[in-house]
Amino acid sequence: MSTDPVVIAIDGPSASGKSSVSRLVAEALNFRHVDTGSMYRAFTWKVLEAGIDPANKEQILDLMKKGRFECDFIEGGHGLRLRTRLDGIDPGEAIRSPKIEQYVSQVSAIPEVRAWLVQKQRDLADLGDLVVEGRDIGTVVFPKTPFKFYLDADPKVRAQRRARDQTAAGFSSGAAVESVQNAIAERDRKDSTRTTSPLKVADDAIRIDTSLHTPQDSADVVLKHIRSRYLERK
Ligand code: C5P
Repeated sequence: MSTDPVVIAIDGPSASGKSSVSRLVAEALNFRHVDTGSMYRAFTWKVLEAGIDPANKEQILDLMKKGRFECDFIEGGHGLRLRTRLDGIDPGEAIRSPKIEQYVSQVSAIPEVRAWLVQKQRDLADLGDLVVEGRDIGTVVFPKTPFKFYLDADPKVRAQRRARDQTAAGFSSGAAVESVQNAIAERDRKDSTRTTSPLKVADDAIRIDTSLHTPQDSADVVLKHIRSRYLERK
């Protein structure tokens, strides 16, 4: 019987449905849910708050070394979700703003920032079983997990979802879906062409197209795979 924590890796591009699906899977299995994108977003928020130019690597690394970056889990209405605090402050929904979306890929492409946050993500597995969503979870952060999923969806569907999410979070810029689609495409381009741990599909990941499915449908597909393989492993 294995006592290692179980890690379910859910990767994919922006607005592919990762967050909703990961939340549902974590809730169904009673695992902790780790949204690694929120860690990169929170640090980008801190960079901008500090008035640092996102192109100034030296100052960003200085901020990274000096600041306190703490992660814990809190009840999020659907089980335990990750909370990130920087120097004691939880930036909350501010990390979802279009401004953060504009710079997060640039900050998260810095290899030292990635190494620092990847270590924090791995440390979270010491607390128990996890559902971890991101871009490089199955390829870099937890490459040995046998539970890897890659979610994707039609670009237009993704843009519609993102525009809806931004409105719900109070960041409606009134932007047409087409301009949201362009912004997403640009972030995907940066995320998948960076040198360190780019967004890509792990060879052994199960691919799920969420375009025509509800989050619950996609979560059920993940859960079906997990339940059969999890029982095999235990
Ligand atoms: O998933 P989300 O859209 O919140 O991620 C925000 C950004 O954080 C991504 O566009 C990417 O630049 C970065 N990210 C990353 N690696 C991860 C998760 C997110 O580089 N594992």
